[in-house]
Amino acid sequence: MGAVLWTDKYKPRTLSEVVGNEKAKSKLLEWAKAWKEGRIPEKKAAFLYGPPGTGKTVTVEALANDLGFELIETNASDFRTEAQIKRVIGSAAQAASLTGKPRMLLFDELDGIVGTADAGGLKAIMGIVKQARCPVILIANNPWDPKFRPLREMCMMVEFKRVGKRDIMKHLQRICEREGIRADRKALAFLADRANGDVRSAVVDLQAVAQGKKEITYEDVAWLGMRDRKKEIFRVLGNIFHADKCSRALAAVKEAEVDLDMLFEWIYENVPRAYKDPRDVARAMDALSRADMFKGRIIRTQDWGLGRYITTFMTAGVAMAKEKSKPGFVKFSFPERIRYLSRGRSERELQMKIAEAIKRRCHVSTKEAREKIMPYLRVIFQNNPEMAAGLARWLDLDEEAIKFLTADAKRAKEIISLLKAS
Ligand SMILES: Nc1ncnc2c1ncn2[C@@H]1O[C@H](COP(=O)(O)OP(=O)(O)OP(=O)(O)O)[C@@H](O)[C@H]1O
Ligand SMILES: [Mg+2]
Repeated sequence: MGAVLWTDKYKPRTLSEVVGNEKAKSKLLEWAKAWKEGRIPEKKAAFLYGPPGTGKTVTVEALANDLGFELIETNASDFRTEAQIKRVIGSAAQAASLTGKPRMLLFDELDGIVGTADAGGLKAIMGIVKQARCPVILIANNPWDPKFRPLREMCMMVEFKRVGKRDIMKHLQRICEREGIRADRKALAFLADRANGDVRSAVVDLQAVAQGKKEITYEDVAWLGMRDRKKEIFRVLGNIFHADKCSRALAAVKEAEVDLDMLFEWIYENVPRAYKDPRDVARAMDALSRADMFKGRIIRTQDWGLGRYITTFMTAGVAMAKEKSKPGFVKFSFPERIRYLSRGRSERELQMKIAEAIKRRCHVSTKEAREKIMPYLRVIFQNNPEMAAGLARWLDLDEEAIKFLTADAKRAKEIISLLKAS
């Protein structure tokens, strides 16, 4: 992996390069234009909110750039006390810029500010909004925290939604063109799908699989595994468990773009739920163990041609295992082996915690830690257990953080035991 992150290299510089969220963008543009033309809008602050990686921060940067504002950007969670905020930002809301350019104030990542001991930070921001003579923009993932209420009331709320698959593909396609990579549409569709509306993670994934290549195919991306796409998985599971012919069970998988490793876990978890007769369950488990055997062989020999056997055992093998059982409605459950990854604290909290650890060690802002360093950490944690263990020690990461970074139970275990052994 090269030193430059594609999320930086291909960060939109102008609004037209920001994909998706057309409504949010034009609402914001109207509002900022009013400021530019000296008409102070009714709401002096705009509050952008929505899930990670949808382009909130870049939209503001691009907007400032397009309209010629000087953007004064603060990561709110790095300033926690009223005094700090006032000292750093307070005057910026008033004074004219040295260059004579109009100013725009941005408080990013407000989520970090609630829940901290000092509630003064929010108070200071509200004070700044009230007195502001320039546009103020606030960003948070979740604006519905009760502590934000007074702030919400003084802001124009702008929602950012998960970015649609087509828009993500468009962005990925553009990157591929500029990198001189020929990309299979199916591969890009897979990446876009897997990102679930998060453009940042789609770009990080693309770089992980495509860097240094001239061409990427579906096979190149499939190993990334699918995030929990429940509906699709349920449909495929239903088709497998209810199939009365091998071909039907096989077709269930071929039509769907589900990741085979993930599907394996789902089938494994749900065989005992779908089949009532213990002998049927045993036969199905036997088929699964054969699938697993081929999986091992493929990993050792890199002979991907064996992949079709995995599919056959997983689907036809499991479907044909039911001699006595007639599965009716099955309430599928999420694979236990993967479940614990999604347990506990929210993803966001974990992200923040890891970012804090990086910040302490590397002396960067939490924002930089999250955007520039964490993506690398993920790649290392997913691919190099020894190095990951060393980093985990250095950053003093706990087991939960390690699981989060690997997103893979087995890998996490490996790293944790290395950590304990050293
Ligand atoms: N809509 C988009 N169009 C193009 N690139 C995007 C878009 N959204 C995100 N990106 C890419 O992902 C990176 C991160 O985006 P950004 O910082 O704007 O996300 P965010 O919505 O602010 O997320 P967070 O809530 O985590 O702060 C950008 O630098 C850019 O490379
Ligand atoms: Mg952001």
